[in-house]
Amino acid sequence: MNLNLRVNGRLVDVDVEPDTMLVDVLRDEVGLTGPRTTCGVGLCGTCTVLLDGEPVSSCILMAPLALGREITTVEGLPEDDPVVACFDKHHAFQCGFCIPGMVLTARDMVDQGRATSREEIREGLGGNLCRCGCYVKIIEAIEEAAT
Ligand code: FES
Ligand code: FES
Repeated sequence: MNLNLRVNGRLVDVDVEPDTMLVDVLRDEVGLTGPRTTCGVGLCGTCTVLLDGEPVSSCILMAPLALGREITTVEGLPEDDPVVACFDKHHAFQCGFCIPGMVLTARDMVDQGRATSREEIREGLGGNLCRCGCYVKIIEAIEEAAT
């Protein structure tokens, strides 16, 4: 089926099977490598994208369900995004594999005023796993981005 999706502020036309997951469309058809498939079942957060500003796991969202919604991947954030700058400043990564998802989840937490304490940030990151164990730095980065 043909889909006309709105991704990072531009319209993209793709021709995919109706049960194709959004992460596969973004990676294979649109060429965006920020969203990554790891668990494939909605548990780890590496495939996180924003749908109308809200974080979703794109590995369990069929692409047609994103029609008419604004899809934002990490590539769609402005270069001077303060959350990205704080991750950079705090060296809040090792391999970086989880970071696009972490940044988008953090972006939402900061936007919604849900990063007011370390406890709240830890809770907000519950769906994003970092296999390198960079949580302390990630939390410090989000804490600064929220101030
Ligand atoms: S790959 Fe989507 S939540 Fe793990
Ligand atoms: S920085 Fe390696 S998985 Fe998080």
